Amino acid sequence: MDLKSKINLEKLPTHIAVIMDGNGRWAKEQGMARVFGHRNGVKAVRETTEACTELGVKYLTLYAFSTENWNRPEAEVNALMTLLVETIKNEIKTLNENGVRLKAIGDLSRLPDKSRKTLLKAMEDTKQNQRMTLVLALNYSAKWEIVEAARKLATAAKSGELDPADIDDTAFSNALSTVGIPDPELLIRTSGENRISNFLLWQIAYAELYFTPTLWPDFRREHLYQAIIDFQNRERRFGKTSEQLV
Ligand code: IPE
Ligand code: IPE
Ligand code: MG
Repeated sequence: MDLKSKINLEKLPTHIAVIMDGNGRWAKEQGMARVFGHRNGVKAVRETTEACTELGVKYLTLYAFSTENWNRPEAEVNALMTLLVETIKNEIKTLNENGVRLKAIGDLSRLPDKSRKTLLKAMEDTKQNQRMTLVLALNYSAKWEIVEAARKLATAAKSGELDPADIDDTAFSNALSTVGIPDPELLIRTSGENRISNFLLWQIAYAELYFTPTLWPDFRREHLYQAIIDFQNRERRFGKTSEQLV
């Protein structure tokens, strides 16, 4: 069965966001340390990025490290940061070949210097690419982002630059770290967990949620295609009735 041919390319989501979960359990299933799962998750990142680029999805956001993930054992956090630096370095060439621009959201100031520098350099080196934007959520939390946006708007209001009456949906969106990026229409979470874990709370207001039991290191093109097909079979009503849509 060719899943790819079942995708309606006219009705692709512009932006897909993914909560990449299940690396630890994947490793445990094979009697390996959690870090082994993270390393094997890189292949899934590569396949998902390539598949989105090939299809014509314009934005892909991957949740790579949450603010809450600092609470993990130090060795795991360090391994994740090292893996991040290595992966980004290794992928710059491919990203450029495929026309992928790298962006990051989250509090990057708390990342280790080396990770931040590598990330900023990769963003600089790929900024001219226009085929797709890959957004890495790193040390990201949606509540942090919303609080930061509120602070930004309050500061502007206090200094007289902004009239509080002008704070609307658009003004708030523009104060978020995702400014300029359309909201995701499809949010995928792997590993069978049915929760959002502090990811893009504002931006997913009307996203279609897709939960799959597949563990992240096992996630391949076909899993992505399946999620997109599922998305395309849903009726997005945005408050209207079904009858109004025809
Ligand atoms: C997701 O896999 C990767 C990160 C959160 C960095 P996990 O490490 O959360 O894997 P599980 O959920 O413990 O299986
Ligand atoms: C969410 O996964 C964060 C990332 C995928 C980076 P977690 O595995 O940390 O989520 P919870 O804490 O189990 O909800
Ligand atoms: Mg997890």
